[in-house]
Amino acid sequence: MTTSTKIRRTTAADLPALATLAHAAFGPDEGPEIAALLHGLLGHPIVAGGHPQALSLAAADLAGRVCGHVLFTPVQLAPAPTPAVPAAILAPLAVDPALQRQGLGRRLAREGLAQLRDSGTALVFVLGDPRYYTRLGFAPAARWGLQPQHAIPAAHADAWMVQALQPGVLERLAAGGTTRRVVCTGMLGEARYWGP
Ligand SMILES: CC(C)(COP(=O)(O)OP(=O)(O)OC[C@H]1O[C@@H](n2cnc3c(N)ncnc32)[C@H](O)[C@@H]1OP(=O)(O)O)[C@@H](O)C(=O)NCCC(=O)NCCS
Repeated sequence: MTTSTKIRRTTAADLPALATLAHAAFGPDEGPEIAALLHGLLGHPIVAGGHPQALSLAAADLAGRVCGHVLFTPVQLAPAPTPAVPAAILAPLAVDPALQRQGLGRRLAREGLAQLRDSGTALVFVLGDPRYYTRLGFAPAARWGLQPQHAIPAAHADAWMVQALQPGVLERLAAGGTTRRVVCTGMLGEARYWGP
């Protein structure tokens, strides 16, 4: 039952459990790469240093076992808008296969988005399945002139999505007609994480 899971911030001590979860959720091919990404991102000075757009939440069951995880890390818009637009990207999101399709992924993402809104975040990006993320409030980002750090195949263009946590921010950005690139923190900026 996912209602008995508690959502809390992760600490450095959770890293082995997060790697185990990544292997279970993403499988033997993608799992090791995601575990390496988590290691790199959670150890990155910007993320570990408590940046307001960095947020790592775990869902733990009654025994304290980590069964879900979501990570948000800061991104920069280039060229930078004035005034600044604090922004983050959601990646990755993982739920233990035994607990999937019970709403835990949604709960983790929604809790993270609420906390980011409270810490002044204006935009959150994601690269993922539109069928899943549109239900969480995301919509295609390209129409706002917001481009991913690395090109995405045209067939998957809708997978690049954004959500505004402050009213009017997307409209203000688009009004200037400037196309901006979304530059990620650390390893998430590497091309290998942007393939189909
Ligand atoms: C994607 C994931 C995090 C969703 O977590 P979850 O707790 O199972 O999802 P929820 O219970 O909140 O939502 C379930 C709904 O999303 C849909 N869904 C789940 N995974 C999906 C996916 N990969 N693509 C599209 N839809 C998906 C299901 O159809 C389900 O809808 P339904 O209840 O109408 O059948 C989880 O399936 C997972 O860990 N997958 C492997 C890792 C992964 O692909 N992560 C996302 C990329 S970063």
